[in-house]
This record gives sequence, structure tokens and C-alpha cells, in this order.
Amino acid sequence: MPHTLQRLLADEQRAFLHRDRRAWIAHLERVRAFLGEGLAEADPSRPVLILGAGSGLEVPWKLAPRATWGWDADPWSRIRTAMRHHRWPPWVFEDLTGGLSALEAAAQRSLREPWAKGHVRPRERALSRLAGLMPSLGVEAATLGTWIETHRPGLILSANVMGQFGVVAQRLLESVLGPCPWVADPEAPDPLGEALDAWIARTVRAHLARLAASSAPLRLVYDRGVIHGGADLALGAWNEAWMEQIEGAGQAEVEDPLCGVDPRVELITADRALHRQERWLWPVAEGQTHLVEAIALGPSTM
Ligand SMILES: C[S@@+](CC[C@H](N)C(=O)[O-])C[C@H]1O[C@@H](n2cnc3c(N)ncnc32)[C@H](O)[C@@H]1O
Repeated sequence: MPHTLQRLLADEQRAFLHRDRRAWIAHLERVRAFLGEGLAEADPSRPVLILGAGSGLEVPWKLAPRATWGWDADPWSRIRTAMRHHRWPPWVFEDLTGGLSALEAAAQRSLREPWAKGHVRPRERALSRLAGLMPSLGVEAATLGTWIETHRPGLILSANVMGQFGVVAQRLLESVLGPCPWVADPEAPDPLGEALDAWIARTVRAHLARLAASSAPLRLVYDRGVIHGGADLALGAWNEAWMEQIEGAGQAEVEDPLCGVDPRVELITADRALHRQERWLWPVAEGQTHLVEAIALGPSTM
């Protein structure tokens, strides 16, 4: 796994843990209850996999069966989990998307002219070259697929990681290309920004396809939306269109971290039923609220 990614995830997690968490209580209670319910029902004779296990802030490890694995590419995640929960679970430190190394390599390649070793491409040409390369980059989440085929887990939990794929890719590109390679004006064309959105959508779909291919019951918690600003935000009655469920977001800027992919559409099939779906608001920081979605799906009957 690239060193840049490890450093970046470690920095992100440190920043996450150093935030003022006083307003997080309701979120933490809900996410722990939701994931804990899955762990308590898990077949103790089968492995359990927790994706985005992080430092275990959101994961009630005391309910986890013995053969529960954590998966998180932050190099400090396992030791933080051990310190918090007094448990040393088996762990996978790989990039879950399987695509970040290729993305970083493509960004580095785009900075150089191929015909003269070391010759730097003008920035605009480099950004446009990268935007052209991105659609051909592989995002198969192969390591996750192999792990699932080998271990045949009896339950997979996703603990708030899917909404991070795009943010991490964005930070990775900024660390290679220099700050702000994106076009600030939302009305102006931004080929690199559009290529990144398309890469995120493909990555999230490929990840969900790996989960769908497993026969295990699934419990996923993820950021459905990120709201910047807004006053007196609240949630109305459940609405399939998530943006329309948010009240008070009139003046706010609302981002979709999954770039148009709906996990429920990808995962609910004729042979796998949705058991539960919930949404709540998580005030992450001053002026930044996340709409969290939690879904539980039964085992595949195929
Ligand atoms: C919002 S945090 C989740 C916190 C965690 N559930 C907890 O209880 O502490 C997202 C986690 O996903 C991990 N992560 C983000 N992108 C990843 C990737 N591509 N591969 C593996 N882990 C990733 C980060 O290192 C971070 O720990």
C-alpha cells in the first residue's frame, strides 16, 4: 500500500479523533446500537468482518464474536482499537477500494512528459492528461473479493467508511498535484473534478458488488449526504430521495459523497432483502452536518 495513503489516513483519523465530540453522543449511541445488534446476532462459528473499523469509536467490540476481523488502512487503527477495547483482533491494513495506488501512479505520471525523462508538464496539461486517464483506471476491489472468498464471513459490517473513499482520493490527488487542482467556479467546466466524481461512483459500485457477491448478512452505516451550513436542520418523514428528507437545508450546500450511487439500489435484489433502514443527522463540526444512513440486509439466498 502506498506510503502516502497510510500517512494521509493516519492524519485524517487523528483530525477525526481530535474534533470536539460533545455533539456526537446521539450519533455514537445509534451507530453502536445498530452495529452491535448485528454483532450480537452473528453466528459465533463464522468469521465477522468490520470494514472501516478505525479506532473502534463506533464499534462495540465487546459484542463481537472471537473470529472478528477489522479492516482499516490507517496504520494506527488496530493499536487504537486495542487500547480502547483491550482486544487484539486480526486485521487487514489494505486499501479497501483497491484503486488508490493506480490513481496515485496515474497522477504522478501525468506530471511528466513521457518523451523527456523528468521533464515537467505544464500544470493545465497535466491536469487534463490525468482527467483523460482516470476513466481507464481499474477499481475492482479485488483484495476485498479475495478475502471474502477465502474466509466466507458470516456477517459483514461497514462502519462509516464508504463515504470516505472519495475524500481520501481527493486528498491523495491534492498531495501529488499540489493544492486545489479543481475549478472553484461551480458553473465552469471542471474535467478533473468530473473525472474524480466518475471514479468515486465506479469505486463505490465495485465495492458494493463485492459485498453483494458475499452470501453474508450485511450492515452498512455510511454518510449519505454532507451538509455545509443550513439552519435548524431536521429530518422529515422517510423519503426515498434523501435530499428531500432534510428540512432547513435551503441555503446550505449539500454534497453527495457517493456521487449518485444508492447502496440500497445496488444491494437489494431478488435474493437479498432489506431488513432495516434508518437515517439520522450527525453534527460533525460547526457548520458541517452529515446525513447518516444505516441499512441491514439479510443473507443472500442464492
Ligand atoms: C470515519 S472513519 C470510521 C471510524 C471507525 N468506524 C471507528 O469506529 O473509529 C473512516 C475509516 O475508514 C478508513 N478508510 C478510509 N478509506 C479507506 C480505504 N480506502 N481503505 C481502508 N480503510 C479506509 C480510515 O482509515 C478511517 O479509520
